[in-house]
Amino acid sequence: MILITGGLGYVGSHFALEYLQDQDSSVVIVDDLSLGHREVLDALPVDRVHFYEGRVGDDRLLAKILETHGQKLQAVVHFAARAYVGESQVEPFLYFDRNVIETLKLLQAVVEAGIKRFVFSSTCSTFGNPQYTPLDEKHPQKPINTYGSSKLMLEEALRALALSRSLKFVMLRYFNAAGADFGCRIGESHEPETHLIPLAIQAALGKRDRLSVYGNDYDTPDGTCIRDYIHVQDLAQAHVKALNMLGQNDFSGDLEASNNLGLAVNLGTSTGSSIMQVMAAIQKVSGRPVPHVFEPRRPGDPGVLVADNSKARDVLSWSPQYNLEQIIESAYRWEANRSF
Ligand SMILES: NC(=O)c1ccc[n+]([C@@H]2O[C@H](COP(=O)([O-])OP(=O)(O)OC[C@H]3O[C@@H](n4cnc5c(N)ncnc54)[C@H](O)[C@@H]3O)[C@@H](O)[C@H]2O)c1
Repeated sequence: MILITGGLGYVGSHFALEYLQDQDSSVVIVDDLSLGHREVLDALPVDRVHFYEGRVGDDRLLAKILETHGQKLQAVVHFAARAYVGESQVEPFLYFDRNVIETLKLLQAVVEAGIKRFVFSSTCSTFGNPQYTPLDEKHPQKPINTYGSSKLMLEEALRALALSRSLKFVMLRYFNAAGADFGCRIGESHEPETHLIPLAIQAALGKRDRLSVYGNDYDTPDGTCIRDYIHVQDLAQAHVKALNMLGQNDFSGDLEASNNLGLAVNLGTSTGSSIMQVMAAIQKVSGRPVPHVFEPRRPGDPGVLVADNSKARDVLSWSPQYNLEQIIESAYRWEANRSF
């Protein structure tokens, strides 16, 4: 049994669905539903899911969960966080509180309960402005917003706890999560939505007037920003592999962290797609053009952000299975039929 925080959110729910494919597995999910959806529970096997509504920094809730399930819990997969870059600049203390302080409380509770395996959702935002691309794990980490800083602080906390408490961790730095469950049971549903692919699909479907494209004068082939879109199902698989690795005590790859107890891995496809390419792919999949308008660049938006995923391939024996068209097919099907 594992503990999943933020399991009713976008990436966490796809991971839960994937993990529970193994009929012998069961999970405890804690989510405060601030950004997640109770409807996710309908897609999960009810007899193998224990759901607790509340915050990961709630000491009493954590004590109750650990008292009830602690003996059986083998690992924690921690998705719960606020993840809006813009909001993090307006409300930095909210991000220190929800992302950093609450996670430290969670870490203290689980480590003291003897749970020593931890998978952490980190982000390419910890790198800041790219000094070179594609970005490997050795790229300097100099975040340029509070969201990225909050995640980097937690990366440091994990390293420290590896040294002092033998915590074993894998931190997975996702690039741009996208796509939806191919069975259309769950998908991306953020309010407000800030991610390009759902916004562009909503514009194609007439759910919003048009897509704002920030900048068409970047030093890229068509002038628009290039990002590395990774299917959420591929991310889910990488978490399963990370858990297996923690279970086998096998850190035989290029060790990033202290005492050979942990690993940082970038998760992307290593293929960049421009906004124009994304809009063209949506038109190809749906037959509908994406109405759009060009706006000035946004501060802090680099022209190109693409992962070097060779470490994930080598160390986790993971490779992405889905390309941009499959990402858009699944996201489009979800957006056109979504139940929440
Ligand atoms: N989506 C991406 O492209 C992306 C990229 C890089 C990293 N990440 C990271 O992956 C994780 C999941 O992202 P997502 O897109 O699924 O976000 P999400 O907002 O869809 O999911 C987060 C979930 O956590 C819950 N939550 C938030 N704060 C909580 C708290 N203090 N206690 C309990 N529950 C809480 C929310 O209700 C929600 O269900 C986050 O940590 C995010 O920083 C996401």
